[in-house]
Amino acid sequence: MPDISVTVDGVRHDDHVEARQLLVHYLRQRLGKVGTPVGCDTTNCGACTVLMDGMSAKSCSILAAQTSGHEITTIAGIEGQDGTWHPVQRAFHESHALQCGYCTPGMILATVDLLRENPSPTDQEIREGLEGNLCRCTGYANIVRAVQSAAAELRAAAAEPTGPGEATATVPQQADARSTDPAQAPAAGGAA
Ligand code: FES
Ligand code: FES
Repeated sequence: MPDISVTVDGVRHDDHVEARQLLVHYLRQRLGKVGTPVGCDTTNCGACTVLMDGMSAKSCSILAAQTSGHEITTIAGIEGQDGTWHPVQRAFHESHALQCGYCTPGMILATVDLLRENPSPTDQEIREGLEGNLCRCTGYANIVRAVQSAAAELRAAAAEPTGPGEATATVPQQADARSTDPAQAPAAGGAA
């Protein structure tokens, strides 16, 4: 079994994994990151989207063994350390951009990456940027509205002057990296 050392939501995990185990199953079954759902398991729906080194990736298309040395962020890792929702989470909530919520963690993480690359997207650019994430419920109008709302908030935050040492990172980094006993892993990730 391959040895890996992967950082997930700011916590380093030194682990042994099955060579064939998908990242999404490692996150859910080994680390308890059940806020990362499995939709299609065939790289079509985007429900399992996480950030890998800050870029969105479908965790059902990556082997856990491929993540050694990388940093993974799930929906459970984008809140502030005080539990404050990420602006994208808040925007999805306030814009009613979800119904069943199954697609929402992936939508939110794909949006974080989209807005990192393009802080001022048009509606069409949002639709194209999120085309790998499917929602069976909302019709997408409120999702586009939420992304525009989050974009405006992030642009405003970026424009605010910051004091020395203050950061305006869109994905908060959790400080302590440690070797992890799976029994102490977080119980669940939560979507907005
Ligand atoms: S579960 Fe990964 S893309 Fe559908
Ligand atoms: S809110 Fe139900 S699949 Fe998107």
